[in-house]
Formats: sequence, structure tokens, C-alpha cells
Amino acid sequence: MSRKAILVTGGAGYIGSHVVRQLGEAGERLVVLDNLSTGFAEAVLYGELVVGDSGDRELVSRLLSEHDIDTVMHFAAHLVVPESVEKPLKYYGNNTCNTRNLLECCAEAGVKHFIFSSTAATYGIPEGGIATEETPTAPINPYGTSKLMSEWMLRDLSAVTDLKHVILRYFNVAGSDPEGRTGQRTPNATLLIKVACETAVGKRDSISIFGTDYPTKDGTGVRDYIHVEDLARAHLDALTYLRQGGESTLVNCGYGHGYSVREVLDAVQRVNGKALNIVEQPRRAGDPPQLIAGAEKIRKLFGWKPQYDDLEFIVKTSLDWERQQLSDTT
Ligand code: UD1
Repeated sequence: MSRKAILVTGGAGYIGSHVVRQLGEAGERLVVLDNLSTGFAEAVLYGELVVGDSGDRELVSRLLSEHDIDTVMHFAAHLVVPESVEKPLKYYGNNTCNTRNLLECCAEAGVKHFIFSSTAATYGIPEGGIATEETPTAPINPYGTSKLMSEWMLRDLSAVTDLKHVILRYFNVAGSDPEGRTGQRTPNATLLIKVACETAVGKRDSISIFGTDYPTKDGTGVRDYIHVEDLARAHLDALTYLRQGGESTLVNCGYGHGYSVREVLDAVQRVNGKALNIVEQPRRAGDPPQLIAGAEKIRKLFGWKPQYDDLEFIVKTSLDWERQQLSDTT
């Protein structure tokens, strides 16, 4: 009997496209739904790409039944924190309302498994800078709240249906496929490693450090950077867990240790072999001093084994990708 298909929303985006590639390599049957507002058709290397919204009930219901789908992986979302503060309803509309519609279609179609991209932003500013899955959620921006509301809908729906879910709370995702097939294409990106690598290859003049007076090891912000390939693997592990009858659950996705902004920039300079033009700036609004994952649960429950827990390797794959992008456009 042929295996049922997986619907991947947002599969043309940064993280989604890496997961689609790994699922495709594993022989899964895939339908990718993406409105291409921030994704790229050429990033989808496996499956059928359908251009549309994950909140379009008619379209989603048709896809679920026509393709015999029993699993949904939901990546489609807006994710820029400062923008979510400026335009909260855009975030509640796309992230929360569309997820509600998607879940309604899943319930009607009897979808069995749902894997949801959530975020460490649901924790806000955790005490001590480390968040385990038991840490109370207290988002400090509409982005985090929009994702937390989706988590709650999913939890409440699973409680009264046969749907089983895994919520993955991502920490700071970085890096690219080491073989250069997928990477982070986002224009005007704000993420530290992306911006630093764009600076290293000459796409930007300088890189700013936002805040040098934090109560951290060197005064700059500390984050738990996870390689996108390891994060993608966590989705396949979550799928195996659900297929083996695992109960609905929630796990952090991080390595369990952090690097400061200065440590990241030092790594970029070492890997690139050249100094960066670094400008020290005041703190950026809404940034917690430190955010590190309590990351035991994912290893224990899924047997997840990260392969790329190495800052220089993360930076190297990001730099390689930027160089490749540059040579593609020149
Ligand atoms: C990222 C994610 C957010 C997630 C969070 C989890 C995106 C757009 N953001 O946010 O969704 O909830 O991880 O931890 O996906 N920095 C600089 N200079 C720069 C850019 C950043 O100094 O040019 C500093 C920031 O102040 C911060 C650190 O680098 O201390 C990381 O920032 P960034 O890469 O933007 O990620 P987060 O804001 O942590």
C-alpha cells in the first residue's frame, strides 16, 4: 500500500524548504502549499507545489482529500518580530486565523498528525535566560503571541479529536544545506548570522552589534543557534514519533548552549579570513539578553541526534550560501 501524503505549508520558505528536501530524500509523498509571499518556487526541490494560502479552506480541503493526506507540517507564517509590533493584526491574521482555518480543514478531513512550527518567542524573557518546556510562556511581542494562540488551538483540538500533534519551539535557526541545494534567500533579512555573512561577502557595508551593555559574558546578546539541517531532522524525527503512536507533545529545538553576538562575529571573521566592519549600536527594542533552550526532551523523546552543533560549521554553510547567491546573480 502506498504511504499517505504530507501537506507542507510554507514549504518554499527557509526552514520549510530544508524539511521538504529531507522528506523528499526519505521518499515521502509531498504536497507543498505556499503563497510565495516570502518563499521561492525554486526552493521546493521535491513534491508538487501549489501556490495558495494555508487559510484558504476550500483549497486546503480539496488538497487534503485529492492527495490522500494524513499529515500536515505547518510552516507558513510571518516571522519578523519588529514588524509584528507595528502590524499586529497582520500577524494574528496570517499566523493565528489562518492556522485556525487550516485546523478546521484537518479536523473535517480526519488528518492524523500535525507538526507545528512554533518559536522560543513564546517564552518572552525567561528567568535566568534558559527556557525548558516547563518554563511559563509569556510572549513579549505579537509574533510570539500569535504562535502561542495557535499552539493552544492545536492542543484544544487534539483533546477532542483523534489528531495527534508535535509543537516544535525553534530557537535561533541558522546555516544552510552543506551541499548548497537549499539556503536562506530572504531579502532584507534581519537575522544576525545572515546579516554578518552578507557583510562578509560585501553585500552590506557593516554589521551592527545591538547592545553592548547586557548582563552577559561580554555585554552582547546570547542566543542558542541551531543549524537548519538539524532542525529539519527534528521534523522527520517528530513524524516518526507520531507514526509510532506517540502522544501529542511539545519540544524545544536548540542545542542547549549559547553564543554572544561578539562570539558569532568572531567566528564569521575567522571563517571568512577577514575583519568585518562592526558598528556598536544601542540595544534593539524587544531583545531579551539571553535565550537558551533547555534541550533534553527532544533528545530523550525522539532520539534526536544533532550533527552540526558547531558554530564555525554553521557560519561556514551560511557563508558558502551567500557566496553561491552572489555568483548566481553576477
Ligand atoms: C530569532 C527569530 C525569532 C525567534 C528567536 C528565538 C526571526 C526573524 N527571528 O530572533 O522568530 O523567536 O530567534 O530566539 O526568525 N543582532 C545584532 N546585530 C544584527 C542582528 C542581530 O547585534 O544585525 C543581535 C540581536 O540583538 C540578538 C542576536 O543578535 O541579540 C540575535 O538576533 P536575531 O538573529 O535577529 O534573532 P532573534 O531576535 O533572537
